[in-house]
Amino acid sequence: MGIVVKLLLPLLIECTILYVVEVSREGARAPLQFMPWDNLQKWPQGPAKLSPSGMRQHYLIGAELRNRYVNNTKLLSPWFYTPEIKVYSTDNDRTLTSATSQLLGLYPPGTGPSLRNKFQLNNSVPPIEVENQQTIINKLGYSALPNNTQVISIHTDLLSREALLLPAYDCDRYEYLVQVRNSSQDVNQLILDNQNLFTTIQKSFSCSYQYAVYIFPKLLDSLNCNIFHGYSVPSEFSGSYYTNATNFYAEYIYNVYYSPDALAKYAGSGFLINLMNEFKLAKTQSMETRFSFYSGQDRTILNILASLQLPADFEPPFASQLIFQLIQENENLFVTLDYNDQPVVIPTCGNYKCPFYNFIRYLAIRTLHNTTVACYLNQEQSTWGIITKPGDEEFDFTGKSDLGHIRWFGWFAIAYLAAVLLGIIGVFIVYRIKQKKPKKKNQPYAAIDIDGEI
Ligand SMILES: *[C@@H]1O[C@H](CO)[C@@H](O)[C@H](O)[C@H]1NC(C)=O
Ligand SMILES: *[C@@H]1O[C@H](CO)[C@@H](O)[C@H](O)[C@H]1NC(C)=O
Ligand SMILES: *[C@@H]1O[C@H](CO)[C@@H](O)[C@H](O)[C@H]1NC(C)=O
Ligand SMILES: *[C@@H]1O[C@H](CO)[C@@H](O)[C@H](O)[C@H]1NC(C)=O
Ligand SMILES: *[C@@H]1O[C@H](CO)[C@@H](O)[C@H](O)[C@H]1NC(C)=O
Ligand SMILES: *[C@@H]1O[C@H](CO)[C@@H](O)[C@H](O)[C@H]1NC(C)=O
Repeated sequence: MGIVVKLLLPLLIECTILYVVEVSREGARAPLQFMPWDNLQKWPQGPAKLSPSGMRQHYLIGAELRNRYVNNTKLLSPWFYTPEIKVYSTDNDRTLTSATSQLLGLYPPGTGPSLRNKFQLNNSVPPIEVENQQTIINKLGYSALPNNTQVISIHTDLLSREALLLPAYDCDRYEYLVQVRNSSQDVNQLILDNQNLFTTIQKSFSCSYQYAVYIFPKLLDSLNCNIFHGYSVPSEFSGSYYTNATNFYAEYIYNVYYSPDALAKYAGSGFLINLMNEFKLAKTQSMETRFSFYSGQDRTILNILASLQLPADFEPPFASQLIFQLIQENENLFVTLDYNDQPVVIPTCGNYKCPFYNFIRYLAIRTLHNTTVACYLNQEQSTWGIITKPGDEEFDFTGKSDLGHIRWFGWFAIAYLAAVLLGIIGVFIVYRIKQKKPKKKNQPYAAIDIDGEI
């Protein structure tokens, strides 16, 4: 019986993937800033650039996505068809080259286009003189590019897409709140609790404590890059120092960018609103796009996780990815989310397969209703606000209880009105009791009469 059920299930449940949204972090790279132990021999591509290991990581992701979405599910065509795929990246060399590497895996050499006829073969030359042109052409044959390599355009426009992937640079109010958090009591306390991480740098670099605090994130980044690539790091920065530093920094980032929850909502809002719109369009099947790929950074992944109220207090490894899938099972639509192939249960969904309308409702709660209004920061706040201690109201915005905005005089006015009203009611009750008394002398609980008559 068990075997029959197993054989029948794939026939009964018809599961189709309608749309896929991938968000990835850049692959392994050189440190953002070189430390004394970094140099161009180790990192010939230069600071912050994707390393050969990073290229390989993304190429392999691309190969696996090809296996899943071309070979197995046939979501995408075996040859690149422009309308099916949209690719966006932040405007950084490392994220752009990550996207290029991944796309080479998704559409590997051999799948690219060829010239169609003899005329094109003869005519496809530039309006300049090319040395050894005929030799190059003979080597290419009909293949447009060597070995039918496929090139895919990557969009990177600062105004809209970058804002989705890295809102801190676009939303004035979020940027302001992050700065307020950065100078808050509890964040300062967290730094204080981890002083030994900075005094170690101070000793090793013979620098001031302030400089050690400033350089710490860059130093940790360099440790990450070196350790990933199997390069040795100074012994005082390896072992438990590295573990402690990693844990501290993840907690620091979480506290500054995603806590309290209002900040988390800001962080991924732009991306989630866009995701909601993409899925709504995909549902109507009125467009040919099947796959959008966003090439971002570690913070891009964390922003989205934090906005969804999923754990975001860790550092996503190089080439981490989130995959949202819109799937159809019989007549029902579901959304799934995977973080590095681990199925993630989105809050309020109860299950890895989140019913589409649950997902949309949840996103509507977890995003800003009007970004223009929410991101607006008035002049006063931006100039003196940073140095003042934040009040709770700094973190109130549309969506949170409106009672939070009422000041002491508001409550005083409400209490005053309530007292006056109670007084009037009291006078009225006493007046009615006095009226009734002569009629019903034996009734001790006059209030019952009043109830009966009204
Ligand atoms: C996809 O299928 C083709 C043949 O159907 C096979 O040659 C290729 O290796 C497969 N690709 C992957 C990534 O499994
Ligand atoms: C190829 O192009 C050259 C000039 O660009 C022309 O003279 C020649 O006739 C063309 N040959 C063919 C087969 O089209
Ligand atoms: C195509 O790739 C092969 C090796 O895979 C290489 O030998 C050949 O030169 C390449 N062709 C071109 C035009 O680059
Ligand atoms: C947080 O404050 C430190 C100095 O205390 C500064 O170096 C860092 O750039 C600030 N970070 C943000 C995100 O404002
Ligand atoms: C790391 O943290 C542990 C526990 O807090 C502590 O015992 C250890 O000394 C720390 N290591 C370094 C190198 O700071
Ligand atoms: C957001 O609010 C501004 C100002 O009130 C308004 O002009 C704009 O149309 C609103 N945008 C949306 C999408 O509702």
